[in-house]
Amino acid sequence: MSNHSADYRNTLGIFPTGVTIITTLDKDGREAGFTASSFNSVSLDPQLVLWSLAKSSSLLSVFENTESYAVHFLAADQTDISNTFASPILDRFAEVDWALSDSKLPILANCAAHLECASRHVYEGGDHLIFVGEVIHHQCDQDKKALVYHRGEYSECKPLGE
Ligand SMILES: Cc1cc2nc3c(=O)[nH]c(=O)nc-3n(C[C@H](O)[C@H](O)[C@H](O)COP(=O)(O)O)c2cc1C
Repeated sequence: MSNHSADYRNTLGIFPTGVTIITTLDKDGREAGFTASSFNSVSLDPQLVLWSLAKSSSLLSVFENTESYAVHFLAADQTDISNTFASPILDRFAEVDWALSDSKLPILANCAAHLECASRHVYEGGDHLIFVGEVIHHQCDQDKKALVYHRGEYSECKPLGE
C-alpha cells in the first residue's frame, strides 16, 4: 500500500486528535497561523511539546525562523476558526478575535486553552518538519469542551456515558 493512498489516510483517521491553531509573528511583525492536529506533549520536565508542519506550507520559513509561538486548543464551538486557519484566506486573523500577549504572540479568544512556547528544536520528518517547543506560559478554561477531529470530521469531547 502506498503511503500516499487514501487507505493510509483512512487508517490514520481512526486515531482521534484535538485541533490546535498555532500562531506567531513573522519577521515583519505580521501575524501568522494555521490549523494543526499533529500536536502532542513530549516531556513534563522540561515541559516540551511537538507538532509538525508540511514542507509545502507557505508558513514554513516563518515557523523555522521564529523564536516562539502559541498553540491554541480549540473548543467544540470553534470549527469555523479551524476551517478559516486551514483555508487559503489572505488574512485569517481578520476573521477572528485575537490580541497580542505580553510576550508578543497572537492569542485567539475563547479557546479551551493555549500554550506559549519557546522554539527549541526543528527536526526532519519526511514531507513535514517536526517542531519541539518549551512551554513558557499556559492558560486554560476548564469549563470548555475540546474540539475533536476523527475520521475527517469534527466532534465533541465528552466522557463515556454522559
Ligand atoms: C483538522 C486539521 C488538521 C490539520 N493539521 C495539520 C498539521 O498538523 N500540519 C500541517 O502541516 N497541516 C495541517 N492541516 C492543514 C493546514 O491547516 C493547511 O494546509 C493550512 O492551509 C496551512 O497553511 P498555509 O496554507 O499557509 O500553508 C490541518 C488541517 C485541518 C483541517
